Amino acid sequence: MDLQLTDRTAFVAGASKGLGYATACALAAEGCRVAVCSRNETRITEAAAAIADATDQPPEAVVPVVCDVTDEAAVAHAIETTVAQFGALHVLVTNAGGPPAGTATSVGPDAWPAALKLNLLSTIALCRHATPHLQAAAAEDDGHARIIMIASAAAKEPIPRLALSNTARAGVLGYMKSLAADLGPAGITVNAVLPGYTRTERLNDLADSTRAGTGQTREAVFAGWAENNALKRIGAPAEFAATVAFLAGRPAGYITGTAVPIDGGRTKHLL
Ligand SMILES: NC(=O)c1ccc[n+]([C@@H]2O[C@H](COP(=O)([O-])OP(=O)(O)OC[C@H]3O[C@@H](n4cnc5c(N)ncnc54)[C@H](OP(=O)(O)O)[C@@H]3O)[C@@H](O)[C@H]2O)c1
Repeated sequence: MDLQLTDRTAFVAGASKGLGYATACALAAEGCRVAVCSRNETRITEAAAAIADATDQPPEAVVPVVCDVTDEAAVAHAIETTVAQFGALHVLVTNAGGPPAGTATSVGPDAWPAALKLNLLSTIALCRHATPHLQAAAAEDDGHARIIMIASAAAKEPIPRLALSNTARAGVLGYMKSLAADLGPAGITVNAVLPGYTRTERLNDLADSTRAGTGQTREAVFAGWAENNALKRIGAPAEFAATVAFLAGRPAGYITGTAVPIDGGRTKHLL
């Protein structure tokens, strides 16, 4: 299937590693020009070069942008820089790191606003600053504009000991659904993707915090998580990224306002 992403332009947040990195790779492999952002100049510069190399794209097609997505002024600057460099913006993928683990009663008072800033308000800031450019892209003759929010399977089925994530991700879905209604008439699709357990550094960190003091190995923690999935395994970032690339492509133009679990069958509810 041709996703018709050749010479389209995308901004992928939180892309120096993990799910954002894999997503940028998948988009670049489809011929999309991609701006990748993270907080650290060395990490994001190396990631951009590695993505271009891995996907046979010229270096100028994968641009590193230093941006902390919790800083709204930095987000505004990053989006403007991308549009100035590429001339347009067709696809926005929102993402950031995950908040620390903890139960609802154990996390401290400062952790709540920090988590909402990291995972909810950053999503809103990215969308707010990208929207005028996406509207312009959608209004072109061959209009094509997409927003994809990376959230978590926790948004649909809360994960034990991840109270901060459970709370912030539910907010992302409420915002996603509201924005999809607002931007639908302009032809812009807005969706969320909900990763389940997928092998990244974030998952290693969560496994280490889960096994602390138990004597369990990291792989034993992974095995326990995998057992709870229909597919009985942990996912690969490339499997996650393939779905994001599909949603970013033109053939997905009639899908909006949805939250797609990419979780090996972890979520057990019917709807
Ligand atoms: N992996 C999973 O199994 C899983 C499951 C459910 C949900 N999720 C969620 O999906 C998201 C991505 O997960 P992941 O596993 O890819 O995480 P990860 O391996 O920790 O990668 C996070 C990425 O985001 C960047 N980042 C972190 N904070 C940022 C900020 N404030 N501004 C800009 N960039 C920032 C990091 O780069 P720098 O450090 O260079 O800034 C890195 O590139 C997270 O929110 C995570 O909680 C993951």
